Formats: sequence, C-alpha cells, structure tokens
Amino acid sequence: MNAVEPLPLETHPERVRLRFEQDDGTVKEARVPIGTTVFDAASWNGVAIDSTCGGHGTCKKCKVRIESGEVAPTAIDFRAFSPDEIRAGWRLACRAAAQEDLVVDVPRDLATVLGATNEGRTRQTCRDLDLAARLAVLT
Ligand code: FES
Repeated sequence: MNAVEPLPLETHPERVRLRFEQDDGTVKEARVPIGTTVFDAASWNGVAIDSTCGGHGTCKKCKVRIESGEVAPTAIDFRAFSPDEIRAGWRLACRAAAQEDLVVDVPRDLATVLGATNEGRTRQTCRDLDLAARLAVLT
C-alpha cells in the first residue's frame, strides 16, 4: 500500500490575506484572489468604505491607509494625495489591487457612522444625506 502524500501547506497560493482595521476597533480578515481591489474585498466582507462612485475611481472618497504590505500608487493616487500621504501608505481602495498580504486601516467615515455596510447602501446613504442637506438649505 502506498503512503498518503501530505497536502501542501498553502492550498490557495493564488490568494492573499487582507486584514481590515477599523477606527471603532473592529477587525475583519478575508482571503481573496490576488489582484482583488481593497475596495471589493472590503465590500464583500461587510467593511464599509466611503464611496459615491461605486468603485470606479472618480469620487476619491475611498481613502484607506496601507499599514503593512506594499501597494504601488496609481496615477489617480497622486492626484488624490500629497507626496507625504503617499509615503504614509494612503491609497484609494478602489484602485489598490492586492498583490500580497495587507493590513489596511479603514478610517471612520460618515457612511460607517450611519451603519452602511455595503456599496449600494453607502451610495444610497450619501444620496439621502445630500438630499437632506439641500432640503435644509431650501427651508
Ligand atoms: S470609490 Fe470612488 S474613487 Fe474609489
């Protein structure tokens, strides 16, 4: 009888681990395919990141700080952040493709305060707040 071969230690080498640290102390971890954006990984795992463009790279609201791991800044990051912020690890989550394990600081934002936990609710919350602000100006 042949001996059973042990399974390789890393069964999903094409995946990376993302650890989301939120300002309220909540920590969530997820394993996602290499190349997944931080924004998508957060959305899939109930971590609210501010956005009004739904991850299309136009609103520049999805600001996160990469605490550990490397994410090369994109051209839009250089328009959204100062050189010091880039050096400190600030990136737009929807442009940040995870190529390795990352620890991501997710700042507290208005959507998070209101309890939005996914992209659709975040966008709706922002629209509702915008409408409420316009009505307040008119009244
Ligand atoms: S979600 Fe709008 S720029 Fe990233």
